[in-house]
Amino acid sequence: MRIIRSPKIMSEALRRLRSKGKTIGFVPTMGALHEGHLSLIRRARKDTDIVVVSIFVNPRQFGPKEDFRHYPRPMRKDILLCRKERVDFIFHPSGTDIYPAGYRTFITVEGLDKVLCGKSRPGHFRGVATVVAKLFNIVAADIAYFGQKDAQQVIIIQRMVKDLNIPVKIKVMPIVRDKDGLALSSRNTYLSRQERQDALVIPKSLDLARAMIESGIKQADRVASLMRYQIKKNKTAKPDYIAIVDQKDLRPLDGSRIKKGALIALAIRIGNTRLIDNYIVR
Ligand code: PAF
Repeated sequence: MRIIRSPKIMSEALRRLRSKGKTIGFVPTMGALHEGHLSLIRRARKDTDIVVVSIFVNPRQFGPKEDFRHYPRPMRKDILLCRKERVDFIFHPSGTDIYPAGYRTFITVEGLDKVLCGKSRPGHFRGVATVVAKLFNIVAADIAYFGQKDAQQVIIIQRMVKDLNIPVKIKVMPIVRDKDGLALSSRNTYLSRQERQDALVIPKSLDLARAMIESGIKQADRVASLMRYQIKKNKTAKPDYIAIVDQKDLRPLDGSRIKKGALIALAIRIGNTRLIDNYIVR
């Protein structure tokens, strides 16, 4: 396994392999790897000849009051995990490798970036779309892998790839959960033992939504308000949003019936930690 910092060297190494007919699978991450990331890496290992994992905590997707400085960076552990999963390359650029002095170009996926998480995290998806487009240009992968937990991120990246004719296939892998149902996230490490327990209200509220829909309660407003009621019973959980939207354009389904394919998404603050989760209606 090679660890490469320079975008130029990364591109050249992969260009050589591509010219020999090798296919490239790419897993973009911010490190602090957990089973969710490993499921993407394992899938890439199965699908493609060469697996590239990028580890870059992208400053441009954090707001001024967010956790960029404190975001976990367990690089040694991440390297060991990648080695164990037989990753071929870790691409680990520095901030100035990605945003050299004078950097001025950003990508906005209009409309999709200002709703749900975009409302309370202005500029977040502009940062995500920009760095992902840059990484796609550097790696030029055949397939890139993303987790369904970041549902809005996935929708925005799929839109961007289509709109900008970026020649990469996007594969979305299911949410990986702990045994008790909490979706894995690098930010779960911020939770105290009590908060970890309180956070279970998040998957439970999605289970409640699923049960309501399966029992025939399909009015979006009604399902969302019962989820809100259940979450608010837990004193440490503060909803940022609970939304039932059309998966294609993130348009709210308020007042309509929930149909197959609708996305139920939520962001909840547990103490100082903001967690997201979602469920797609089957
Ligand atoms: O999902 C993430 O870890 C990040 O948003 C990504 C896609 C690596 C871009 O920085």
